[in-house]
Amino acid sequence: MDKKKVILIGASSGIGRQLARLYAQAGWIVGISGRRKEKLESLVEEFPDQIVMECFDVTGTGNIESMKNLLQQTGGMDLLVYNSGYGDISASLDWEIDRQTTAVNVNGFQEIVLFAFNYFMKQGQGQIAGISSIASIRGSSWAPAYNASKAFMSHYLEGLHIKAARLKKDIAITDIQPGYVKTDMAKGEGLFWMATVEKAAGQIFRAIGLKKRKAYITRRWWLVAQLLKSMPFYFYKKIG
Ligand SMILES: NC(=O)c1ccc[n+]([C@@H]2O[C@H](COP(=O)([O-])OP(=O)(O)OC[C@H]3O[C@@H](n4cnc5c(N)ncnc54)[C@H](OP(=O)(O)O)[C@@H]3O)[C@@H](O)[C@H]2O)c1
Repeated sequence: MDKKKVILIGASSGIGRQLARLYAQAGWIVGISGRRKEKLESLVEEFPDQIVMECFDVTGTGNIESMKNLLQQTGGMDLLVYNSGYGDISASLDWEIDRQTTAVNVNGFQEIVLFAFNYFMKQGQGQIAGISSIASIRGSSWAPAYNASKAFMSHYLEGLHIKAARLKKDIAITDIQPGYVKTDMAKGEGLFWMATVEKAAGQIFRAIGLKKRKAYITRRWWLVAQLLKSMPFYFYKKIG
């Protein structure tokens, strides 16, 4: 039987890197990407028979060409995971931070996910997972662009989910919403319920395998999500 194939956008560090290992260990062919070539090469060295790489910046103009290069190396795609993400505290509304946030989390995400959806439409089946965030649920005064960009991801994925169902296509769409995970991305003070990368990636791997529509990572963050969704603005504005 043919091996399953996954393309992981943003697998040079953190959650994406650990996810790549989990898919390789499960016997998948894994196509990885990111900007840091040495990081990608060292991951290929861990699984030389299963992991292939393409080094590219999702904010550039070559996303589709790079996807095609990856597809040639993997020999196809059953699953796309868009994990690349950028965000920083932008308390004084720093345009460079906000521009980069939108370029990676909105524009790069949309171009690659749209390409994957059309690829799976032709193929007749497939799955797309996006790593958005609990931050997608409400606005933030500390990082307005980050929360807004993650809301875009989450809503876009929901739209694709409904579209696939309406078209009666076997394309599963999964929105992964992590809380805090111990990586370079976890910034700020008062961080709580911080999961290890191993635990978070393990739960993400399982949720994608179960083709969940939405998954909170770690699972206890479901509670925070419900609290955020139901909190009246009057209270939320004191913490948001
Ligand atoms: N850690 C958390 O607490 C947390 C919480 C909620 C959601 N998330 C989300 O989880 C995802 C993974 O983040 P992480 O925590 O594992 O942090 P990370 O270790 O910093 O990983 C971020 C990944 O995104 C890639 N990336 C960033 N900018 C890119 C660009 N311009 N072009 C291509 N790839 C780019 C990075 O690769 P290169 O630098 O090599 O390009 C890296 O592989 C992100 O989408 C993040 O928003 C994280």
